[in-house]
Amino acid sequence: MNFHVLTLFPELVTAGLSGSMIGRALEKGSIRINAVNIRDFTEDKHKKTDDYIYGGGAGLLLQAQPVYDAYKSVLAGIGGGRKIRTVYLTPQGRTFHQGMAQELAQEEDLIFLCGHYEGVDERVLEQVVTDYVSLGDFVLTGGEPAAVVMIDAIARLVPGVLHNGDSVMEESFSGYLLEYPQYTRPEVWMGERVPEALLSGDHKRIREWRRQKAKERTRCRRPDLYAAYEALMQCRRELLQNKLHHMDMAELIYREKAELLYHDREGTLLRERKSGTLMITVKSKEAGERILESFLAQGGEVPKLLTAKQAFMEEVIEKCLHMTLSSCDLQAVYTRKEAPPIKQQDIRQLGAEYLEVLLAHYDLTDEAYLLDRLSNGAVFGIFVDNTLAGFIGEHAEGSMGMLTVFPAYRRRGLGTALESFMIHRTLQKGYTPFGYVVEENKASVKLQEKLGLYMAKEKVWWYEKNM
Ligand code: ADE
Repeated sequence: MNFHVLTLFPELVTAGLSGSMIGRALEKGSIRINAVNIRDFTEDKHKKTDDYIYGGGAGLLLQAQPVYDAYKSVLAGIGGGRKIRTVYLTPQGRTFHQGMAQELAQEEDLIFLCGHYEGVDERVLEQVVTDYVSLGDFVLTGGEPAAVVMIDAIARLVPGVLHNGDSVMEESFSGYLLEYPQYTRPEVWMGERVPEALLSGDHKRIREWRRQKAKERTRCRRPDLYAAYEALMQCRRELLQNKLHHMDMAELIYREKAELLYHDREGTLLRERKSGTLMITVKSKEAGERILESFLAQGGEVPKLLTAKQAFMEEVIEKCLHMTLSSCDLQAVYTRKEAPPIKQQDIRQLGAEYLEVLLAHYDLTDEAYLLDRLSNGAVFGIFVDNTLAGFIGEHAEGSMGMLTVFPAYRRRGLGTALESFMIHRTLQKGYTPFGYVVEENKASVKLQEKLGLYMAKEKVWWYEKNM
């Protein structure tokens, strides 16, 4: 991932990011920092980049020309003519949080614009900025320390930057609760023992102890977060009253990937935190329209994908979000605790080197999405005599999918083996396996039933953003 920083003080940015984990990631090349000095782009013969403020007022303002030319030079370096997310650091922006870090970590290139003095000429901000971001309700002398903080938080989410990917999964703000307390040797220090549960070696007990402590700590230190957690749990209980129809939404909450955008007796709107996919279920068309309109009024962005649980939402979704119906599926849910029997098969996790093969056999999504799934370790291949014969994956919102067996290998039970494997894997994590099936795909419906999944009576509808 490449971080481009437009600044008058490049050394503040490079020095702030040269040590520890981020320094090592820079050396390894997992991330790159391109600190661009705005002063190098001024057309002023005295190298001036700022001037007085029209209408009066204290201080000086960064001029539009050098900022714009510095920005253009970064775009030219990236090439491809893509729109690049450009963050302007300002106390007037949206407050930075972990969800934003996760979202921004998906980008290949990010541009940060650091203001100094009283700020930057509004006209150039209008031209280049896509995101106004603040670190909090206080004022810094410039955007550089804020850019360093944001880059640190984003970079550590880039695969390969931290040694242990799991530590990202369990830390504060990744889920809904603060992290539980942790201990290392010695077992007794100043008379204080490490809690007994943690020494028990009983994984279930340890998990429960940690969850309980995380809840207590959150309730005490961050009552605001705890209230949001309770609201999500209540929402999940209500969704599970129609388990087969709403399992995807309930699982999104359970797997700590959901942001609750709206919930009352009339409907629920959730957002998957990483991909931004929306999920909506409502009692009536009027409620659906009201919920989506308030989502937009609060600055909500139209996502790439949305799933709705009611057919009558088509008109509303087209009208409010300008999204187009792309498919209609049945939801299949594996409700048992025990996994189906599995035969010993050669199933392996697939890496990014399999992108071409996946693209050749699976055309329901685009290249970037498949690469994301491969890089996240979410795709598994079945091998026959050391040759790939098919694959299955976990979609971004948690469903099992992409099941494909290559033509020469069909009718040998490989599809059953792949899906049984995914069910096992999902149950092992303590989650409920589910997937979406096209009703007309009789072979797939039959496979789900054979494996013991139940089909919801009601369908789900998928919508895509109009490009
Ligand atoms: N620049 C000045 N103050 C700031 C803040 N609080 N957050 C981000 N950028 C800033």
